[in-house]
Amino acid sequence: MCGIVGYTGHRAAAPLIMDGLKRLEYRGYDSAGLAVVVDGRLEIDKAAGKLAVLASRLPTDGHTGTLALGHTRWATHGAPNDVNAHPHTDTDGTIAVVHNGIIENAAALRAWLSERGCRFRSETDTEVLAHLISELYTDSLEAAVAEALRRVEGTYGLGVISTHEPNTLVAARLGSPLLLALGDGENFIASDAAAVVEHTRSVVYLDDGEVAVLTPDNYHIVDLDKTRVEKTVSVVDWDLETIERGGHAHFMIKEILEQPEAITNTMRGRLLEEEGTARLGGIDMTDEQLLEIDRVVLTACGTSWHAALIGEYMLEELARIPAEVEYASEFRYREPLVDSRTLVIGLSQSGETADTLAALREAKKRGARTLGIVNSVGSTIAREVDGGTYIHAGPEIGVASTKAFTCQVVALALLTLRLGRLRAMSVLQGRKMVKALRRLPQQVRQVLGHSKEIEKLADTYALAQNALFLGRGYNFPVALEGALKLKEISYIHAEGYPAAEMKHGPIALIDEMMPVICVAPSDAVYQKIVSNVQEVKARHARIFAVVTEGEEEITSLADQTVTIPKTIDCLTPVLSVIPLQLLAYHVAVRRGCDVDQPRNLAKSVTVE
Ligand code: F6R
Repeated sequence: MCGIVGYTGHRAAAPLIMDGLKRLEYRGYDSAGLAVVVDGRLEIDKAAGKLAVLASRLPTDGHTGTLALGHTRWATHGAPNDVNAHPHTDTDGTIAVVHNGIIENAAALRAWLSERGCRFRSETDTEVLAHLISELYTDSLEAAVAEALRRVEGTYGLGVISTHEPNTLVAARLGSPLLLALGDGENFIASDAAAVVEHTRSVVYLDDGEVAVLTPDNYHIVDLDKTRVEKTVSVVDWDLETIERGGHAHFMIKEILEQPEAITNTMRGRLLEEEGTARLGGIDMTDEQLLEIDRVVLTACGTSWHAALIGEYMLEELARIPAEVEYASEFRYREPLVDSRTLVIGLSQSGETADTLAALREAKKRGARTLGIVNSVGSTIAREVDGGTYIHAGPEIGVASTKAFTCQVVALALLTLRLGRLRAMSVLQGRKMVKALRRLPQQVRQVLGHSKEIEKLADTYALAQNALFLGRGYNFPVALEGALKLKEISYIHAEGYPAAEMKHGPIALIDEMMPVICVAPSDAVYQKIVSNVQEVKARHARIFAVVTEGEEEITSLADQTVTIPKTIDCLTPVLSVIPLQLLAYHVAVRRGCDVDQPRNLAKSVTVE
């Protein structure tokens, strides 16, 4: 969601903050701002729109201060305009605050502070924090922040600076990610390591209820009761190159093309060919504990939820264990029935999605064992679950999730192997699955080889108003994912449906203007989907189909087809989704859309 960067050190802070914000802009981007302490004053620049607008407004001779805070915003309270952009200050301009999260008792605090003479300028909940800290300040910024946070209800990732203490940067966290990055004679705070990895790889992840105080040479962490907390310093194991576009026009296409490598990394060291199973050390459960599990609940949001659906199909078909999928936002509020024999698995690329985190906390509270299938190393979900598996897809910057999806499906296949081999799956079946997994990266490369054909197709689809995506079995979630990809980056209305369900309503929409995308590999339900494609053809729709190499029936009905190589049914989604990712990408580019930062979206949704 919003991006936060803060700096205290010996260098001019403003350019460092702007560079950091640039790397965070993907998280949220409707306005941005910067506060620098210069000669005992706070200099603030803010602008609605992208970071480039803010950059164009900065003084040409630059700010010289060495203490600063910056923010990119994804609006929650108040429209995305200059005034509502962060940082926010108190009435006298001595305290500046950037904030990610929501202050739930902002209205009551605002009324109280107004009565005491505070003058509010914005509609935001964050401004309340600036005034509150100022009201409580006597001689220590750390103490004032801690006291203010005791009076606040809600969530925050917070950065605070003040003219009273021109070397001190205070940070706090409750529900929104924040880390400290430790340099040589300089220290940073950031909501994501991407903002600071250029300067240092040594980071300390803050946990909920912690307040950090940083000066150029030191830092310490306390809880809200002022008790010191000792934390370990982690080392970020990726570099700047990994998060740059590397010559590609957009992060999204770079990440689509990275999939063979990303999937290889998900599987690295985990496949046991001879035993026909997978090694997943991070789940930290013995065979006996795994056998005690009598039900699996997978919970997630968006694209991760689609991957979870594929996991449900795999776990039931191959591991013969009851599995169900829940939207995290629904699960957390509906008194779910889980107990110590339920394995609740949260899937999240960012590891910070507020609803998924809350669902996992709810499950834990109810006695379930929780696992995370997560991409972002050190993220909150990864740290809070009982065990889990990193997908190792590498940083995903494009807002539309691509490589994380295919890697999540692969991680679910590994988990299916692990659970399945303890139950219904024979060693021969296990070996077959391991072999199929090993072949996947090369097969993904083959599908990516169709990129040019799909790019040509995009010209036709770029003019569409609507699109219908159909699939069955393992490829029904792929239809959902294809529709989500298209709508979120090209703004074409798209729906995904189980192909047979179409005749119960959506078929009314079909005419010669409606593009229908059929995901129809030659799997167990292939003959069934052939009939559905015929029904679509009879209504004169324009059909684009994803089929298995050598397939003839659907190929003869469709206007265009793209082929994928043969694999076992449960792995077909890893291949069949790729033409849909490429289609969405090229259509969005044709339509002149902002592919990596589509409107209204944020990469990491840290509010509910
Ligand atoms: C769609 C997309 C979102 C995310 C969702 C969950 O392309 O990226 O739907 O999948 O916001 O995010 P994570 O996986 O970070 O929990």
